[in-house]
Amino acid sequence: MLSLMYVSRAEPGITPEDVKGLAHRAAENNARRRVTGLLAYNSLSFMQLLEGEGAAVLETMRGIERDSRHSGITYIRQDERENRECPDWSMRSLLTPLAGVRSATVFTGTLPPQMELDTKILFTSFASSLTAEQARHHAEQSDRVMGRQREAGND
Ligand SMILES: Cc1cc2nc3c(=O)[nH]c(=O)nc-3n(C[C@H](O)[C@H](O)[C@H](O)COP(=O)(O)O)c2cc1C
Repeated sequence: MLSLMYVSRAEPGITPEDVKGLAHRAAENNARRRVTGLLAYNSLSFMQLLEGEGAAVLETMRGIERDSRHSGITYIRQDERENRECPDWSMRSLLTPLAGVRSATVFTGTLPPQMELDTKILFTSFASSLTAEQARHHAEQSDRVMGRQREAGND
């Protein structure tokens, strides 16, 4: 059984609804090919795990590589395994900036029990990483707090 994972940059115009639709369609195709896996989207990037019979996974991946809804596909893992990590998900999508998830522990709890710890950590760190926009927002907020603290100190 082939298992592979990649990350890619989402096309900027894409919305969470687009991703849900795409994953729904993907799940139908994958069920036919007996491919399973997980697609995570954090508003900037995708991280996807695909697993199944080698030829089926590679055929699926050939279609994905041609898809203009993302670019810069970078493979982060590809190996032969005994067992599936997402045996019950023909393609599950998780739309997961940390702002929507709140807690990394809660997010990890939604991953399949069969999933290896290494894979859970990859998905959880992906889900927890801030987008540039979120990072700017946090920086502005902490500047404001620091400013207020300085003002309070001067009173
Ligand atoms: C990030 C991303 C992940 C995708 N994952 C899958 C997938 O797991 N399976 C699949 O069949 N198509 C997937 N697609 C869609 C394919 O690129 C392609 O659009 C689709 O297979 C075409 O199917 P259709 O000919 O049935 O419309 C994905 C697309 C993107 C952008």
